[in-house]
Amino acid sequence: MSDDIAKPVTPETFAAQAGGGVDVETGAIVAPIHVTTTYERGADLAYPKGYVYARPDNATVRQAEAVITRLEHGAETLLVPSGMAAAVSLFLALDKPAHVIAPTVMYWSLRNWLATEGARYGIEATFIDTTDTDLVARTVRPGETKLIWIETPGNPLWQISDIAAIAAIANWAGGLLAVDSTCATPVLTNPLKLGADIVMHSATKYLNGHSDVMAGSLTFADPTSPLFEATSRLRGQHGTILGPFEAALLMRGLRTLHVRVAHQCRSAMAVAKAMSSDSRVADVLYPGLKTTPGHALAARQMTGGFGGMLSIRVKGGEAAAIAAAARLRVWKRATSLGGVESLVEHRASVEGAGTPCPPDLLRLSVGLETADDLIADLQQALVGNG
Ligand SMILES: Cc1ncc(COP(=O)(O)O)c(C=O)c1O
Repeated sequence: MSDDIAKPVTPETFAAQAGGGVDVETGAIVAPIHVTTTYERGADLAYPKGYVYARPDNATVRQAEAVITRLEHGAETLLVPSGMAAAVSLFLALDKPAHVIAPTVMYWSLRNWLATEGARYGIEATFIDTTDTDLVARTVRPGETKLIWIETPGNPLWQISDIAAIAAIANWAGGLLAVDSTCATPVLTNPLKLGADIVMHSATKYLNGHSDVMAGSLTFADPTSPLFEATSRLRGQHGTILGPFEAALLMRGLRTLHVRVAHQCRSAMAVAKAMSSDSRVADVLYPGLKTTPGHALAARQMTGGFGGMLSIRVKGGEAAAIAAAARLRVWKRATSLGGVESLVEHRASVEGAGTPCPPDLLRLSVGLETADDLIADLQQALVGNG
C-alpha cells in the first residue's frame, strides 16, 4: 500500500479511508488480503520488506491495527482473535506475582477467568466497585498492584468509572490502568487521552459491528512500555495474532464505525426515554439519562453520545422479563452486542450463579433499525406486564 493519509486528518476520516493508502501495484482502493504465511529472503539472507513469517506479523492485520491506533490516539495496537484473548494475554504478560484490581460488575467471562484461573498464573485479583474512586485509592497497593482494570460503561448496569482519576491512582502506585472500552467505542471516549495506559476492545462488537467477526484489540499509549513488549512477544510466540480474513472484515467494519455509533447513540437515547415513561418498566439503566447514577461523569467522559447499550428492569420480576423478551419480534434474543441488528438478553441467566445482575433485567443492544420500530416492538412485548 502507498503511505497512509498524512495528519492532520481526523481519526474519522482516517478510518473511513482505512488509512487512506492505495495498493501500489494495482491502484486498488481496498487493500488486498495478505494470506501468505511466509516471505522471501534476499540473496544476502535479509528480509527486504521487513516481513518474515505470519505468526508474529501480517500486513492486513497491521492495516487494521493502524486504524485502531489512530482512533484511540495510541502508539501501538495488537489484534488477537477475541476480546477475551486480548484481555487474558495482557494479564498473562504482567510480571508476577501481580496484584490486580478489577470491577465487581464487569464482563462476566473475564471476571470469572480472573477469579477462577488467575491464581494459577500468579494473579491475585481484588474485585471492588470501581465507580467509587476513593475505594480504588484505598485498595491499591503501591509496588504490588501491577494493573487496575476497569470497564466503562460497565456491563450490564452501565455504571461509569472515572478514567482520569483512576489513571492518577495507578500512576501514583506504580501500576498501569487498562480500560475495557468496548461499549464506549473510540467514537465516544479515548481512555489514553485521559491518562490510561492501555485500551482494550472486544472488536467483535462495535469496531467490527456486523456480528460476523471475533476479534480483540489492545492499544498501548507507550510503545516502549515493557508490558507492550511482553504482550507482543507472547503473541508472536503463541501465534495468537488475528487471521488476515478476519482483519479484512474488521477493516471493512471500522470504515463505518462513526456513522453506526452516532445512529446507535440517538436510537438508544430514544429507546431509553420511551422505556422511562413506560409504567411497565421499573427502571432504565442508561448513562444518558439524568436518573442513572454516573450520568454527570458520563457527560464529561463520553463525547458525542452515551452509547448504544442500555438495560431495562421489567416490573413483575424475572418471569415477566423473560416473557417480555419472548414476545419481541424485531429484537433478536441473543448474546453479544454492538452489531447492526438489535439484540436483547436476559443477562442473569447467561451469567448464572453468583451474578450481580438483577433477575428482572433485560440488556438491550441497539442496532441500526429505526428507533420507532424498536420502541413499538418493546411496547407490544411489555403487554401483560406491570
Ligand atoms: C465489555 C466486553 N468485554 C470483553 C468481551 C469479550 O469479548 P469476546 O467475546 O470478543 O471475547 C465482551 C464480550 O461480550 C464484552 O461485552
